[in-house]
Amino acid sequence: MFMLLLFLSIFLHQASSTRLDEPLALSFSFPTFDPSSCTNGSLICMGSVTAGNGYLSLTPEPNNNSTSSSSALDQVGRVLFPVPVSAWSTSISTTFTVRISPFPNHNVSGDGMAFILAQDNSTSPPSSTGSYLGIMDSSTQGGVVKQLAVEFDAFMNEWDPDANHIGIDTISVMNPVASKSLSTYGIDLKSGRNIKVKIDYHGWKKMLQISMAYSGDQLVSILNQSIDMADTVPSTVFVGFTAATGKVPESHQVLDWTFSTIPYLYPHGHGSKLEKVKTILLIVVPVIMGLLVVLVCFLPSFQKYMKRRKEMVKQKVDIEIRSRTAANVPKMFTQNMLAKATHNFSKGNLLGTGGFGSVYKGTLKDDPPTIIAVKKISATSKQGEKEYFAEICTIGRLRHKNIVQLLGWCHEGEHLLLVYEYMSNGSLDRYIGKCFLDWETRFKILTGLASALLYLHEDSGNPVVHRDIKPNNVMLDEEFNAHLGDFGLARLLQDDAAMTTMLAGTPGYLAPEVGFTGKSTPECDVYSFGMVVIEVVCGRRSKGIMDENSLVDYVWNWYGQNEVLKCVDQMLGSEFDEEQVKRTLMVGLACLHPDSTQRPKIRKVVQIFLNSDEALMDLPETRPSAVYISVSSTGSTTTNVESKSAPQLPSLESSIC
Ligand SMILES: *[C@@H]1O[C@H](CO)[C@@H](O)[C@H](O)[C@H]1NC(C)=O
Ligand SMILES: *[C@@H]1O[C@H](CO)[C@@H](O)[C@H](O)[C@H]1NC(C)=O
Ligand SMILES: *[C@@H]1O[C@H](CO)[C@@H](O)[C@H](O)[C@H]1NC(C)=O
Ligand SMILES: *[C@@H]1O[C@H](CO)[C@@H](O)[C@H](O)[C@H]1NC(C)=O
Ligand SMILES: *[C@@H]1O[C@H](CO)[C@@H](O)[C@H](O)[C@H]1NC(C)=O
Ligand SMILES: *[C@@H]1O[C@H](CO)[C@@H](O)[C@H](O)[C@H]1NC(C)=O
Repeated sequence: MFMLLLFLSIFLHQASSTRLDEPLALSFSFPTFDPSSCTNGSLICMGSVTAGNGYLSLTPEPNNNSTSSSSALDQVGRVLFPVPVSAWSTSISTTFTVRISPFPNHNVSGDGMAFILAQDNSTSPPSSTGSYLGIMDSSTQGGVVKQLAVEFDAFMNEWDPDANHIGIDTISVMNPVASKSLSTYGIDLKSGRNIKVKIDYHGWKKMLQISMAYSGDQLVSILNQSIDMADTVPSTVFVGFTAATGKVPESHQVLDWTFSTIPYLYPHGHGSKLEKVKTILLIVVPVIMGLLVVLVCFLPSFQKYMKRRKEMVKQKVDIEIRSRTAANVPKMFTQNMLAKATHNFSKGNLLGTGGFGSVYKGTLKDDPPTIIAVKKISATSKQGEKEYFAEICTIGRLRHKNIVQLLGWCHEGEHLLLVYEYMSNGSLDRYIGKCFLDWETRFKILTGLASALLYLHEDSGNPVVHRDIKPNNVMLDEEFNAHLGDFGLARLLQDDAAMTTMLAGTPGYLAPEVGFTGKSTPECDVYSFGMVVIEVVCGRRSKGIMDENSLVDYVWNWYGQNEVLKCVDQMLGSEFDEEQVKRTLMVGLACLHPDSTQRPKIRKVVQIFLNSDEALMDLPETRPSAVYISVSSTGSTTTNVESKSAPQLPSLESSIC
C-alpha cells in the first residue's frame, strides 16, 4: 500500500526572517511504491519508468516473451520528486533500497543506475542510454548541465575500474569526481539482492558520504568525497533516480526511499530566483507555522503571566515565610494532599516525564493557593529510589536563587513524591531552536546557570556535582530566570564510592573523561555547561542531524576563521551585543576542552559573565584534539592525548553511547 509522508517543517527563524533565499527543511518518505505513485503527482515518472508491485522499475522488466528482450534495450528512465529541494547550505540525508538484476538467460547485463540531484524537472536526454546511465549525454556533459549523480555502475566501460562500482559524477560520467569498486566490500550490484544505500551530505563540512549494504546488514561506509554543492548544482534541485540500458538488458528497481534536508543557515546564503512553488512555501507556510509557534509558545505563558502575576507575588511571600519558619527544611506532605493537588495525578496535570518519573502540576489549597510541581518517581525501579533520596539529600539543603527549590517530599507506601516550586516557563530545551528568546534573556539564563554551578561546586559548604547539566534540567520562571533542577544524579564530592559506581549523565553532554575514569568531577559539569552555552547561543541542539562533535566543530570552524559570530542563532538577527556574544562563545569552547585540566573553573566563568573587563582564557586556533582511549584485553584503560589537531577524530562520546 502506497504511503506518502510529506513534512514541510520550517524553522521559526525563517518565519521571522524576511530573506527568501534561505533553504527550506524538507523531508518525505516512500516506504513502498504503487501504480498511482507515477500517476497522481507524487512523483514525476519519465521515460521507461513504471511503478507497481511495491517498487519503481526504472527500465523495463523481463517478460515471458522469449522471442524478444529488444524492447528492454537502449532504454532510459528518470523519476523525480516533484518539489524542488534546497541544495546549498543544507545537510541532506537520503536512504533507499535498490535491486539490479540481469535478465534470465543473459550472462551479461548493463548498464546501471544513479541517484541524481538534477537542475530541473526535465527528462533524461534521449541519447543518455547505456553507459550514460540516463544522467547526461554527449551534448549535456562538460558542465552544460549542473547536476550531481551517484552512480551504481554494473557495466565495465574503458574508463571504469570494474563492472561493480559506485561513482560520483558532476560534469562527466567518464571522468567521475570519485569512484570506488564494491568488490572489496562483498557487495555485488548485479546480484539481484536488495541493496540499501545511504547518502549523506554534510552541509558545513561539504562532505558527501556514501554507505551501502545488503538489506538487513549493517551499513558500511564506502566513499567520502568532499564536494561543494554551491559550485556543483543550482541552489534548488530535483532529486530522484535515473537508469539506462544499452545493448544488453538489465532491470533497475527502487523499493523504498526516504529523503530529508536540514538547512545550515549560513548567514549569507546564496540567493537565487525562486520558483513559484518555493515562493509559496516560503511565504505562506512559514507565516502559518510562525503564527502557530508564537501562539503555542507565548499565549499560554502570557495568559498565565497576566492571571498569576498577583498570585505569584503572594506565593513568593508565602514560600519566603514558610522557608523561614521551617528553617530551610523541606516539609513532609501526605499522599492525600498531593493527590488532591494534582487531581489524582491526572493526565491534564502532567508537565513532563523523564529520568525516573513524571512531573505533575498541582495546586495546594493553602491561603493563598500555592502552585507546585510534583515529581512522582516510579516505585518499581531501584534506581528511582536511589534518585529520590539523592535528591532529598542534596537539593533539600541547598538554597540558591538559581536552583529549583525543593518544598517537600512524601514517602507513603510505594509512593515516592517530591514537591518543588512551579516554574511557569518550563524547561530551556523547549526554546532552543524553537522559540524566540532575546539575547539579554539568553545571557541571563547562562549567567544564572553558571551561578548555580558555582554555588554547587564551591559555595554550598559541601561541594556537590550535578552530573546531568542539560537544557531539560534548566527550568525557567516567569521572568525567565534559570533554576537548575533534577538533582537525581547529583553527588556530594567527597562521596567517592558513589561517583565511580555507574556511568551517569546524558550522551551529548557527558565529558569525554567520564568514559574511562567513571568519575564525575566539577570539571565534568563545566563541560556539560559549555555544551549548553553553545546550544543556547547557536540556537541548535547538539543532537539531531549533527552529533555533539559536529556542533562543537561547527563553532570551532567559524572561530578558526575569525568569524565566530556566524554561528549565532539566526533568530537573533543582529539584535545582540557582539562583544558579549563572542566572549560567551569563547567561554563555551573553553569549557568544552577535551582535557579536563584545561577547562576554566566555574568561578572564572561567572567572573567573565558578570564583568566585561575580565580577561578571557587563551583559546587555541583550532579545536583541541580529542582524547583517545584504548581498552586493553584485561579491561584496563589507558589514555593518551594526541597532539595533532583533528576535528574528525572518532569521538569518545559516540563510542560510549
Ligand atoms: C497518491 O495516491 C496515494 C494512494 O495510492 C495517496 O496515498 C497519495 O496521497 C496520493 N498522492 C497525491 C499527491 O495525490
Ligand atoms: C513468467 O512465467 C513464470 C511461470 O511460468 C511466472 O511465475 C512469472 O511470474 C512470469 N513472469 C512474468 C513477468 O510474467
Ligand atoms: C512478444 O514479442 C513480440 C515481438 O516483439 C510481440 O509482437 C508480442 O506482442 C509480444 N507478446 C507479449 C505477450 O508481450
Ligand atoms: C555468455 O554466454 C555465451 C553463450 O550463451 C558465451 O558465448 C559467452 O562467452 C558468455 N559470456 C560471458 C561473459 O560469460
Ligand atoms: C517542472 O517545473 C516547472 C517549473 O519549474 C513546472 O512549471 C512544471 O509543471 C514542472 N513539470 C512537472 C512535470 O512537474
Ligand atoms: C567517512 O567518514 C566517516 C566519519 O566522518 C568515517 O567513519 C568513515 O570510515 C569514512 N569512510 C571512508 C570510506 O573513508
